[in-house]
Amino acid sequence: MNLYDRIPNNVNLAEDKRLQRALEKWLPNFLSWWHDMGPDGFQDKEVWLRTAVDVGSEGWAHFDYIKMPDYRWGIFLEPPQAEAKVGFGDNYGQPAYQEVPGEFRNSLRRIIVTQGDTEPASVEQQRQLGHTCPSLYDMRNLFQVNVEEGRHLWAMVYLLQAYFGRDGRDEADALLERRSGNPDKPRILEAFNQPCDDWLNFFAFTMFTDRDGKYQLSALAESGFEPLARTCRFMLTEEAHHMFVGDTGLNRVVKRTAQLMKENANEDVREPGGIPLDIIQRYINFWFSYSLDLFGGEISSNSSDFFAAGLKGRFKEQEQYTDHVAKEGVFSLPVVESGKLAAREVPLRNALNEVLRGEYVKDCAKGLARWNRALAEEGISERLFLPQIRFHRHVGEYAGNYFDVEGNLITQAEFDHHKSEWLPSMEDREYVRSLMRPVTDPGKIANWIAPPATGIKGKPFDFEYVRL
Ligand SMILES: [Fe+2]
Ligand SMILES: [Fe+2]
Repeated sequence: MNLYDRIPNNVNLAEDKRLQRALEKWLPNFLSWWHDMGPDGFQDKEVWLRTAVDVGSEGWAHFDYIKMPDYRWGIFLEPPQAEAKVGFGDNYGQPAYQEVPGEFRNSLRRIIVTQGDTEPASVEQQRQLGHTCPSLYDMRNLFQVNVEEGRHLWAMVYLLQAYFGRDGRDEADALLERRSGNPDKPRILEAFNQPCDDWLNFFAFTMFTDRDGKYQLSALAESGFEPLARTCRFMLTEEAHHMFVGDTGLNRVVKRTAQLMKENANEDVREPGGIPLDIIQRYINFWFSYSLDLFGGEISSNSSDFFAAGLKGRFKEQEQYTDHVAKEGVFSLPVVESGKLAAREVPLRNALNEVLRGEYVKDCAKGLARWNRALAEEGISERLFLPQIRFHRHVGEYAGNYFDVEGNLITQAEFDHHKSEWLPSMEDREYVRSLMRPVTDPGKIANWIAPPATGIKGKPFDFEYVRL
């Protein structure tokens, strides 16, 4: 097999023998990780998958049946921009960095490793879900997400191996050694150590946690380190599908629950095997709050350093802002001081995690509005909501304090008292798991979820998306 067939790329890999050797050495380790930790039980099945073959906005992807281990993982970067400049921070307007600037080397490596670690982690979290898919369509979407997270790992490993020499290669190896949820060698970020073992978790994860990915990638797509910016821009095109899976998946669950509520006396949906709205709300609370943590502390010297260095910008830095230096402004946020919430002003650059988090929250709220529209359309008056951002946080200013879902400061005893109203209990999880029985006949769907409005890429819902 020639090099391009083994490692499809648009980075001229054939010309760079050192990088080629490093990637060829890493490839078998990746495949053995995929074999051990990738989707369990379906590796030899043909799945109708999209493969990235180019970066052009037209026809960048190719759809066909393929067995997952034969997926072409590939390295694709958006084309370079002529005379690219550092778009923000202290070096605003200088030529973009084509190599890693020595003084930012550690920061940059840390950013890339942290992003890279999330990609295989989510594959590990989701590896059993194929066994309980609600339809072949959903099974195919799960595997699509999984192979693309694998490709995202390649994207980050490419940067490590191409730009960081020896320690980059060591980090690339370590990305295949950590394991989601493993107490001895866990993944770096906590949301990526949480179990994602039923489909309600999966939809909430792709809605909320993949959406954190969108905002991190968007901030890095602004980076003055051009290879990183170009990599992230292309990853974002794939990421959109993952969020689509989560958003529409939850929408379909909500819709089905609403239908079952109407059909049954006392709106009891457990009896016909639906998922009650209060359980859906608790899953939202759980994944939304864990995903908020991924943005880091509200007041952060790292965020300031990364911005100053031109490494990590704001969401739509060029489109949304005129002042790209951001040295002046202040940001006011409530913090806990002597047992009360009090406003604190911090320099804007130190609050950029919170600024990015705010963009993310707005985006999540649009999803909630769509799901509530589905409830309204079915004639149900209950509504779902996002908990206030202080609720159930493990990172930043609010960690170590207790808040209700409206963001009021409460005692630990009060929190414990309400915990089973706000977060999934063992019984909730067991109940949801009890509904997870596989439905694998083309065109058939589990009772707890509505079918999708359309199939994938013009195919009908009853298309044989996976040949079992
Ligand atoms: Fe990803
Ligand atoms: Fe993703």
